[in-house]
Amino acid sequence: MSAEDPATAAHRTTEDRSEAGEGAVALAYPNIALVKYWGKRDERLVLPWTSSLSMTLDTFPTTTRVRLTPRHRQDTVTLNGKPLDGEPLRRVVAFLDLVRETSGRPARAVVESHNTVPTGAGLASSASGFAALATAACAAYGLHLDARALSRLARRGSGSAARSVFGAFAVWHAARTGHQDPDLDSFAEPVPVRLDVLDPALVIAVVDPRPKPVSSREAMQHTVNTSPLFRAWVASSRADLAEMRAALHGCDLDAVGEIAERNALGMHAVMLAARPAVRYLSPASLTVLDAVLELRRDGVSAWATMDAGPNVKVLCHRAEAGRVAGVVRAAVTADSVHVAGPGPGARLLEDSS
Ligand code: PMV
Repeated sequence: MSAEDPATAAHRTTEDRSEAGEGAVALAYPNIALVKYWGKRDERLVLPWTSSLSMTLDTFPTTTRVRLTPRHRQDTVTLNGKPLDGEPLRRVVAFLDLVRETSGRPARAVVESHNTVPTGAGLASSASGFAALATAACAAYGLHLDARALSRLARRGSGSAARSVFGAFAVWHAARTGHQDPDLDSFAEPVPVRLDVLDPALVIAVVDPRPKPVSSREAMQHTVNTSPLFRAWVASSRADLAEMRAALHGCDLDAVGEIAERNALGMHAVMLAARPAVRYLSPASLTVLDAVLELRRDGVSAWATMDAGPNVKVLCHRAEAGRVAGVVRAAVTADSVHVAGPGPGARLLEDSS
């Protein structure tokens, strides 16, 4: 037997342990913004022009396992059992590079992610996806971050993921204190809300589960660069956020809904004014908006919000969610209508191996 350098032996032992599956599994839920994020002031650091505020859902979780494989020269990533390639793979690898750089551990990884929500259909799959990936990757690479730092890291994968680190209502600050390092100054944190009093639900009408033709990343940059309404959007969004905080503090669902609906319509307006226009809403989306107006005329508190896709989410009281879901289902003959309440933040699962 040849003698082995103790340092090499120690390294090999670490590698062998990792090869056997050093890793972690995490679970995270999507969030739906009631005051939207649309536009970055820094692409690389994913710093937004405006702060945003959302509700994390209790449906459609993403589960992600990250296992270190130091002997592999590349990361392997699967989503719902299918290998990722192209831009989606590049984004995950870039995110893992960031984790490797921060942890000082160069090992490649095998990532297996399972989404229960249609991917890329404006249903916040990237928020749950990167929140789960950030949580699992930190544990697998031995990075111990508090929730605020984890939200900063998740932000680098997908801006909206910063908010899914937290349960229920969360605000993502564009810049919290004017700190000289803008990366440290942009993170999410919980917004305390008396959920039993507000009693919120989101009725999700999946009018089209197909992936969007233009990614939100591309569309928002195009909007920033070409929409003459962008400055006005930034100003109105800041005002919406201040009013939204007051409405949540007062547990006033009608005020919350009114601000959320006008904010979403404003975001779609600023995209429609881009050159050429970005249009995510379809005739079916508008039919749902009409149904929501009709519900309000009938005295039901129901307010719509739409993201980077044609699907519509309707904010209402939990007690009225069944009625709202029925009206929406009948309006668009959407077979896929779901009711979500406020859900938990991202967490590691016990089953980490
Ligand atoms: O995090 P991204 O890059 O998927 O952007 C999300 C953008 C919206 O969903 C449209 C708005 C938001 O604040 O979640």
